[in-house]
Amino acid sequence: MALKPNLLIILMAVAIIAPVLVEAQQGLLGNLLGLISINGTVFCTVDGNIGLNGTSTPVFPNALVQLQCGAGHIVASATTNSSGQFSIALNPLLNILSTLLSNCSLVVKTPLSTCNANLPSVGGLISSLKFVRTTLVGLLNIAEIVPASFQFLPLLN
Ligand SMILES: *[C@@H]1O[C@H](CO)[C@@H](O)[C@H](O)[C@H]1NC(C)=O
Ligand SMILES: *[C@@H]1O[C@H](CO)[C@@H](O)[C@H](O)[C@H]1NC(C)=O
Ligand SMILES: *[C@@H]1O[C@H](CO)[C@@H](O)[C@H](O)[C@H]1NC(C)=O
Ligand SMILES: *[C@@H]1O[C@H](CO)[C@@H](O)[C@H](O)[C@H]1NC(C)=O
Repeated sequence: MALKPNLLIILMAVAIIAPVLVEAQQGLLGNLLGLISINGTVFCTVDGNIGLNGTSTPVFPNALVQLQCGAGHIVASATTNSSGQFSIALNPLLNILSTLLSNCSLVVKTPLSTCNANLPSVGGLISSLKFVRTTLVGLLNIAEIVPASFQFLPLLN
């Protein structure tokens, strides 16, 4: 019987401390369980960006999008889906965010004529990277990156 109040105190202490521990754990694991996510939409326009018609701008499906760093080193690649969207996931332990932002570009290799015969059949699109925010999804810390803005390069190869 004398144990009861002690037990109650322990239970109360656990109830108070447990959330603090979970939070501390999330802070720690949040840094370990990270992910860098690069996503975006390629549009079927002269410069690959969304046009004056906004969301009714045609998209560029099946376009090869490469993440190139330094002097054209291909780090990752993806293909746009039927919505013109691509997504590239990177391990932050192998890819340093600041280096990605300063030293890498997204390059669209598939010629624009593939989505619209009136657009160029040579050259390609290039964009630098822009950091949006970090979001915590469960224990996963996701750094979200998008293309800053595409531009057309006639001599891209
Ligand atoms: C990219 O990811 C962000 C955040 O997850 C989302 O809001 C956005 O719609 C995505 N864009 C594309 C083109 O997938
Ligand atoms: C916007 O949409 C109209 C009607 O479909 C079209 O005639 C026009 O060329 C479009 N403008 C651009 C910039 O795509
Ligand atoms: C940029 O990338 C190139 C090739 O991948 C590499 O040699 C160079 O060290 C990188 N520069 C920085 C600042 O990380
Ligand atoms: C294209 O990919 C995006 C994000 O990767 C996804 O949200 C969207 O549903 C996909 N669209 C289609 C038609 O599969």
